[in-house]
Order: sequence, then structure tokens, then C-alpha cells
Amino acid sequence: MNILVTGGAGYIGSHTLIELISAGHAPIVVDDLSNSSKESLNRVTQITSTNVPFYELDVRDEHALSAVFEKHTIDAVIHFAGLKAVGESVAQPLKYYETNIGSTLALLKTMEAHGAKTLIFSSSATVYGDPETLPLTEASRVGVGITNPYGQTKFMIEQILRDYSVAHDDWNVTILRYFNPVGAHPSGLIGEDPSGTPNNLLPYVTQVAIGRREFVSVYGNDYDTIDGTGVRDYIHVVDLAKGHVAALTHASAGVATYNLGTGKGTSVLELIHSLEKATGKEIPYKVVDRRPGDVASCYASPEKANDELDWCAEMSIDEATRDSWKWQVGNPEGF
Ligand SMILES: NC(=O)c1ccc[n+]([C@@H]2O[C@H](COP(=O)([O-])OP(=O)(O)OC[C@H]3O[C@@H](n4cnc5c(N)ncnc54)[C@H](O)[C@@H]3O)[C@@H](O)[C@H]2O)c1
Repeated sequence: MNILVTGGAGYIGSHTLIELISAGHAPIVVDDLSNSSKESLNRVTQITSTNVPFYELDVRDEHALSAVFEKHTIDAVIHFAGLKAVGESVAQPLKYYETNIGSTLALLKTMEAHGAKTLIFSSSATVYGDPETLPLTEASRVGVGITNPYGQTKFMIEQILRDYSVAHDDWNVTILRYFNPVGAHPSGLIGEDPSGTPNNLLPYVTQVAIGRREFVSVYGNDYDTIDGTGVRDYIHVVDLAKGHVAALTHASAGVATYNLGTGKGTSVLELIHSLEKATGKEIPYKVVDRRPGDVASCYASPEKANDELDWCAEMSIDEATRDSWKWQVGNPEGF
């Protein structure tokens, strides 16, 4: 199938291109490179020996997006494009609502105009807000306790997709709620390349390990968890990428929602110690105050995706830290 991948030059998108190609699909990328570099696509070509057609455009630009649909027959779309920095979304909410919601509306209109009816959307565990019970299932409460505009955009887009689907019952819409993507391609050629201070824990810890930053701040060690530090469900980005291929294979009419996680929680200290094993270095950290809005634990039940998509996260946290380290050492300044 010809798969349009919006945001395909980014972290999860670039890893997904590799899995799409290895499953025999033909991806086409649109990305405005606002948070990525075209070099990631060159690396995908290096890994797969396949050239992926690329169009530099803002997904909100319906005219430019339409031209891509006119040039290629698009069978399905995976929609990664969007802004994702939680802190920035608090400081600049309009930018987040405009970009994330605006790009989704423009995409839906363009797909409709060109008869493309299969969509996979990147949502997030953040839609669960403050978890009532763990593990989180797709039936768990959503929308309560979301503490930032980024999370609100994901929650709102899910609702838009459900409303859209009621009016277009021949569409196949899959909402994938990612837990915490980590790791890099085992080749070390592509990985997460945050600009400025990393928002996510593992890229921050690898930058400490390589000497770009002094220490890791651990936000609280008095939570009710295995060692008092926050527990999250870290999923290797290659497993996550494979989840998209599985979702494409199983796409069917209506809206289906799946958690993509491992079902296992890992604490901040366990993650740091795993990277210490991978690097052979001691990683300095300091315990500081809890951050407002952080929950003690958050992890998925991935059972629905396991059963219905025939997909399961297979890689361990040690493989994720090993691969992140390989990427970091080979590319100390990113792409
Ligand atoms: N990484 C995570 O922790 C995480 C967790 C849950 C959900 N997600 C979601 O998954 C998706 C991909 O995340 P990622 O980590 O790969 O982020 P990323 O920033 O690496 O990738 C997003 C890509 O979209 C592009 N982009 C942004 N706005 C655009 C626009 N208007 N038009 C065209 N391109 C645009 C960026 O340049 C970037 O290449 C995002 O929607 C994100 O919200 C990510």
C-alpha cells in the first residue's frame, strides 16, 4: 500500500518508515521539518536501500497537501505530524491548538476530497490524565486531569475523529495511544534528536552520560512505587513502529483505539541504572522536588492490541537503553 506518513522525518515517524518498507509498503513523507531534519530520511534510505518520496510542507497547507494526493494514490495515512513539547504547550497554547488540531482538520478534508479512508492517529497515554486504576485499559476514563494543552489536543482530536467517523462510517480510523517511546534503531543511525533541553527522560539521561549535561534531576523519591521514583511504561520505538504496521493490517470500518505499551512499569532509577549498565558509567543524579501534575505510576494494559492487532512489544528496557546509547555515541550532537 502507498502510505502517506505525516511527520515522517521525526522520531517515531522515521522508525515507522523502516517497518513499513520491510513489510512491503511504500511510504511517502510530508513534514515541515519544524522539529526534525531531512538527514533522518537519508539514514532511512541507508538502512533500507529505499528512497522515500519527501515533500516539505506544513500539513495545514491544504493546497500543498492536495498536490501530494494528486501525485500519489494514497491508500492510508499515518498522522504523526504535530507539536509535542508539554512545557512549551503550557507557555504557547494557541500554537499547539492551531498546529495539532489545524493539521488534523486539513488532513481529514484533503483525505475526504481524494477518497482516502484509512487513518492511523498518534495519540498518547496523556489522554488518561490522572489514572483512577492501573493498568490503563482503553476503557479507562479519559479527559479528566489532563494538565496541559498538548494533552488536550490529543483528547480533542480523538473526539473529532469519533465525530467524523459517525458521519463517514466507511472510514477506518485507528487511534493509537502511545505510552513512553524510548530507544533507537539498533543500527544506531536514527534516534530521538531533541532540540534544546530534552523533554523526555531517556534522551536527558543519555546526554548526562555523554557529558553534555551535568546530572539528572529526579523529581521526587517519595512516591508509592518500588523505589519512590515515578514509574512509567517505556516502549522501544521499534516495537511502537511495528504497532503501526499491525494497525494497518487490521484496519476496519469504524474507530478502534489501542494502547501501545509494554504493560510493565519502570522507575526513573531503574531506567538510570539500565543506562549505567549499557554505558559502563555511573550517571550522576540529584533528587529534587516533585513536579506539579506528575503521577506516581502510569502503565498500560496492552492486551487489546495483543489480541486484536496480533502485536506485542518484544524489546526490553535494557535493549532500549543499549540502542539509545549507540545512537547517542554515534551522533553526539544529533543529526
Ligand atoms: N515521543 C513521545 O513521547 C510521544 C508520546 C505520545 C504521542 N506522541 C505523538 O507521536 C507523534 C510523533 O511524535 P515524535 O516523538 O516522533 O515527534 P517528532 O517531533 O520527532 O515528530 C513530529 C514530526 O512532525 C513534524 N511536524 C510538526 N508540525 C508539523 C506540521 N504542521 N506539518 C508538517 N509536519 C509537522 C515535525 O517536524 C516532526 O518531524 C506526535 O503526534 C506526538 O504527539 C509522541
